[in-house]
Amino acid sequence: MNHSILADTAHSIVADGKGILAADESTPTIKKRFDSIQAESSESSRNKYRDMLFTSPEAGNYISGVILYDETIRQSSVSDRIPFPDLLSDKGIFPGIKVDMGAKPLAGFKNELITEGLDGLRNRLAEYKDLGAKFAKWRAVITIGEDIPSATCMYVNAHALARYAALCQEADIVPIVEPEVLMNGDHDIDTCFEVTEETLKIVFQELYDQGVFLEGIILKPNMILSALDCDVQSSVEDVAQATVECFLRTVPAAVPGICFLSGGQSDILATQHLNAMNQLNSNLPWKLSFSYGRALQASALKAWSGKDENLQAGQNAFLKRAKLNCAAALGKYSDDMENEI
Ligand code: 13P
Repeated sequence: MNHSILADTAHSIVADGKGILAADESTPTIKKRFDSIQAESSESSRNKYRDMLFTSPEAGNYISGVILYDETIRQSSVSDRIPFPDLLSDKGIFPGIKVDMGAKPLAGFKNELITEGLDGLRNRLAEYKDLGAKFAKWRAVITIGEDIPSATCMYVNAHALARYAALCQEADIVPIVEPEVLMNGDHDIDTCFEVTEETLKIVFQELYDQGVFLEGIILKPNMILSALDCDVQSSVEDVAQATVECFLRTVPAAVPGICFLSGGQSDILATQHLNAMNQLNSNLPWKLSFSYGRALQASALKAWSGKDENLQAGQNAFLKRAKLNCAAALGKYSDDMENEI
């Protein structure tokens, strides 16, 4: 494990208000996204769509890293067949890779999930490193519902996250540690706070116990929000306040950056929340930035709609959200900017 490579990569990922594009949708997930715009999902249409995002001019001004899926890290640009990891690196963007094998039912614990993918991970990381990956992602899922999450679910997911993180660091790959407390359901913001606080407490205990080098990770958590079906939706300011309070209690100052997932929030709200957090307090121990999937891609996907003639419209929509989230990561976003760009 090379501490300086890990720390340099992690710090660069969150430098200058830049953030991550999560473009690592699995084949079934990207099919769902393509279904929503009535586009066919094939190896070549997925290649074209990812090419549109990655070749967007000046993406490197706002995006520091892209998380790829196993299929995507092996694909190349459409026009000149440059492997995607090389294309991104040439733009100053770190190529990353999703290495978990998805969240599966946790045996014996109804409605709870455990993320799989540890077996053989050391060998897969070596291959991804050869393909150019500088960082990786593993998503653990915590569900809030009647009598859940159980302590067991939180513990086994935290344990797996730490085992994954240690293996990544052994290969000098920065692990993105993603414990996602889902916003599905009708729970209130206080419940989200309590569950996220407990989850993060256990995750950092496991990272510590397993010798993970905290200066060389990026945390990718949910924000503290009311659930999608909760009757009372919290204000942007309340979300920002609660989220920062929760992380100040649980995330060690050694961690260089926290890059939030969007998790089903609208794209504009995800930008507003990030901006409000960065405006609250300029003296936070870590950078607060983004690692959005849907919140960076929703408008681009719609503008593109699977048609070649819309490529530029898709790129413009993507660059607009990337630029606005970059402003939000610096606390310099305002609602007016939505109409100016
Ligand atoms: P969303 O921003 O759409 O939640 O995706 C981020 C991600 O990578 C989930 O693992």
